[in-house]
Formats: sequence, structure tokens, C-alpha cells
Amino acid sequence: MKGHVLVRGGRIIDPSQGLDAVGDVLISKGLIATVKVGGGLTAPEGTPEIDATGLVVTPGFVDLHCHLREPGFEEKETIATGTRAAARGGFTTVCCMPNTNPAIDTQATIEFILRTARVEGSARVLPVAAVTMGRAGHELVDMAGLAQAGAVAFSDDGDPVADASLMHSALSKGKALGLPISDHCEDPALAGGVMHEGSIAARLGLRGVPTAAEDNMVDRDIKLAEVTGGHVHIAHLSTVGSLDLVRQAKARGVSVTTEVTPHHLTLTDERVIRPAARDSRDAGPAYDTNTRVNPPLRSIEHVEALREGLRDGIIDAIATDHAPHTTADKLCAYEQAAPGISGFETALGSILRLVHEGVMELSAIVAALTWRPAAIADRSGLGLGTLREGAPGDVTLFDPDMEWTVDASAFASKGKNTPLEGEQLKGRVVTTLFGGETVHWDPRVGAAHGR
Ligand code: NCD
Repeated sequence: MKGHVLVRGGRIIDPSQGLDAVGDVLISKGLIATVKVGGGLTAPEGTPEIDATGLVVTPGFVDLHCHLREPGFEEKETIATGTRAAARGGFTTVCCMPNTNPAIDTQATIEFILRTARVEGSARVLPVAAVTMGRAGHELVDMAGLAQAGAVAFSDDGDPVADASLMHSALSKGKALGLPISDHCEDPALAGGVMHEGSIAARLGLRGVPTAAEDNMVDRDIKLAEVTGGHVHIAHLSTVGSLDLVRQAKARGVSVTTEVTPHHLTLTDERVIRPAARDSRDAGPAYDTNTRVNPPLRSIEHVEALREGLRDGIIDAIATDHAPHTTADKLCAYEQAAPGISGFETALGSILRLVHEGVMELSAIVAALTWRPAAIADRSGLGLGTLREGAPGDVTLFDPDMEWTVDASAFASKGKNTPLEGEQLKGRVVTTLFGGETVHWDPRVGAAHGR
């Protein structure tokens, strides 16, 4: 029976309904049919069952920021491989960024992405269109036409919208369309470095990016959102300064939202130093190019502030910024390495550290992965990020305590570029249901759970 399944006996966490209780979830014809706290739900004869005892059952995760690379960079990732990796990470909806080739700046490219995702995808793909043609920063795209074709937001991600007057126009038009402008906030005049500016950069002899590169542009964007009334979404927020600006702007009622990545919540710039390089007999490079990412990994005071911002709810969402690259893209000097981390498959295990270390409640993490990003991306009311009756049958089942070792060679993503290789993580997605269909099932644990 297609699209029918009964998930029995899991700990259901659905922050959209304030729900955290053991119970059953019935998916019927691809949609959530019933959630029954306490269990004992009966399903029509022949409905397949998943025994979720000991697992956490949540709405499918929603990722506001990833790079699927298709069209144009299929050697790094495709919609098929990227969404398979998303499904393994528990994501059933992903917003893909427009730094493809061609950029997502025409209706035809949006239609290509949506069609390819429908045919080959393991998750729902919501395209983020470029703000400017070719992401070149000169001429606005046809925002209304792209919105009609299915764009859920606009961004020149990979680059900021450097021209303030274009950003002003984009925010005004975005307001009329009810869609956010997501900005990659790095002032190009200050962003020439390759890692966080500080003592580690100095020690490695690498050029640093000052935090002002981000703070200045966040400040500008908030002011423009305030005067236009448009919605600005700050992509991959990473500094104490920009967090404070967002906090103050929210208090004034500015339409601003923001996201943080798992790597900015859990890794510091100390990780740039390759562990083996601490041994004087090691002849390899001093650094690990897999740590190169935009914005760069920050020092501990920023990481701690971001955790606090997420806990306070000032940060709306956890977004992976999944940025797959080839091995050759990283097998080079730090300055030449392509920035980005392949993040779908390690996202949950990374961020659950915050729960295991007592920094955050599990339900707050789930909220930042489900209804809170859905509130930003789901403008057309698809019913994402919730287990309410009638919502898509998108459900993620994970074991929060399962320990596993990161082995990038086993990733579904083509991008093996992770700074977490060999790392022990605690927490793993066991099964992902997309429209009631099993798009991921971890065979190592699945047998014990009746599939
Ligand atoms: C992004 C990518 O690889 O597309 N990389 C990254 O480090 N976040 C683009 C970018 O934001 O620089």
C-alpha cells in the first residue's frame, strides 16, 4: 500500500503542537492521518508498521540552506545524490541555493530543478532564486516570475548583495511577494581572508576575515529591512556582533530571521589546525582544508553566543549549508581550497551534542529543524514541519543515543568534504519517511525496528 504506514510506540516530538509524548503516528495516502498519544492506534489491515520503541519521532526536518550543485556542477553533487544525503540526515524538505551554472535566475531553471527533484529526488526541493541575474550583482531578476515558478526566497548566496540600492529594491519587491531575501553577509571589501581573524590564523600564517565583514552587512541589511518593511533572512549567522544586531532588530519588530549551521554551533577555528600536524614528526600540511568554509569557523566566544542565541530563540533555524565539493577541490593549499562542508549526514549527530552536554532541550533543537524553518520557507502553506492531521507524511525517526563514527566514504553525498572524518557522534537518523514512503532506512538498526 503506497503512502500508508503506522509508526508505533516512539517518543513523538512535534513542537508545532507542543507535543512530546510516547504514541503512534498513522500516515495514510501520503499524509498524516492520526497522531495518538499513548498508542494503541489501529490501522487498516495490511498497513505496514514500524516499531519506533526507543526512537524519537518528529516531523521531517526542513533545511533552509543547501547546495545541490545541479545544474552545472554535477561532479560535486546532483539533485539525486544531494536529496539522498538529505534523507539520510532526516531532511524531507531542502531549500537549494542558486550558485549553480546557470544560476537559478530564470523560470526554466526553477522548472528544471522542480522536475528533476520530482523524478529523481528523495526529498522535497524548494528552490531559492538568485537576487541578481547570474548572481553578478548588477540587475535584479524577474522576482515575480520566479516566485510564480516556485522560488521560496531570493539570495545571491556565495556572495552578498553588495549593492545597497539593489538590496533595497529586492526587499521592497520581496515584501510585495511575501518572500524573504536571504543574504550571505560578508562585506567583500573585508572578506578577502580564508579563516577567522585571530591568533590561530596568525599562527598558521593564513589571512583572517574580521568579524566586521559580517557585522557591517547584517547592520546594513537590517536597516534596509526596517525602511522597506521587507523580510531579510540572515544566512549562516556566525558572530556575536551580528547576533546582537538581530536580537535588537527583533525587539524593534523588524522583519528579520536567521539561521545557524551545525558547524558554527560545534566547531571552533582551532579545528583548522590538522590534529596530526601537532606532532613535530608529521610532514603534512599544518591545516585541514575541510575546515575551510564561509563564513569561517569562529573562536569559542562566538560559538557560545550562537548556542545562547539558539536557546533564546533569537536564531530561528538550524540550516546545514550543505556544500559538497570534490576531493580535488580540497586537496590543495588552504587559500585555494573551495569553501564548504558536506553537512547533511552529520547535522543531527553534531547538534545533538548540545543536548547531550545539557546546553539545550531536545524539543528546542527539533523546533529549529522543523516548524521554525518551515515558517520561513513554507509561504504557500504546504503544511511542512508539523505532524498535524493532513500535513505531508514526512516523518523522521532517530536514535538520540546511538554512537557512530563518521566515515565520509559511506556518505550518500558525492561531497566527502567533512572536518568530522573519524569523529564519534552520538545520535543518528534511523528512518526517514517522505510522503509516507521510506526514503532512508538504516539497515544496521532497521531490523530491530520491524522493517
Ligand atoms: C558555499 C558553496 O560551496 O556553495 N560554500 C560555503 O562555504 N558556504 C558558498 C559560500 O557561501 O561561499
